[in-house]
Amino acid sequence: MDEARESVEVMLSAEEIAQAVRRLAEEISEAYEGKKLLLVGVLKGAFVFLSDLARALRIPCQIEFMRAASYGDNTSGGDVAVIQDLHLPLSDYDVLVVEDILDSGRTLATLLRHLRAREPHSLALCAFLDKPERREVPVEADFVGLRIPDTFVVGYGLDYAEKYRGLPYIAKLRIEY
Ligand code: IMP
Ligand code: MG
Repeated sequence: MDEARESVEVMLSAEEIAQAVRRLAEEISEAYEGKKLLLVGVLKGAFVFLSDLARALRIPCQIEFMRAASYGDNTSGGDVAVIQDLHLPLSDYDVLVVEDILDSGRTLATLLRHLRAREPHSLALCAFLDKPERREVPVEADFVGLRIPDTFVVGYGLDYAEKYRGLPYIAKLRIEY
């Protein structure tokens, strides 16, 4: 069996990312001024973005994490289950779900439905990257970092087979068989 050769090509530099994070932090700080903001990061991919975003906000916030997993055919979007949940009452909180990338929308549709049932004071979504062409279910982010075309990307928390999460930039992944 031949080894597949992977290579990465920078698509968004660390500076372009930092600029988008600063703009998002400004928008969110303005929108949530005086509110009880709870950032809910979606593991694992959002850990890098969430840590940058939280440090760029001008307002206080609390931070929690959730985790979802898709089962069935992963590539064509099987069903999604919540495998790590929140353990605090949400009725007081203005919940902002923080995700690395909005793709088919299946993961976030499940997470948002799950959180809405817990009746937070408000519920919104921030996705660092958005691939609008890929949407299979109707989910839109209230705050979007950057819109990108339908291409598989890695870095800044995003992985391919658990690799590349630590890259400080976002890159297109090319695989040659
Ligand atoms: P969705 O449920 O299809 O919207 O996407 C869910 C998850 O798929 C995201 O949270 C990512 O973890 C992963 N994903 C989607 N697109 C990419 C990509 O281009 N690179 C790496 N992971 C991706
Ligand atoms: Mg993710």
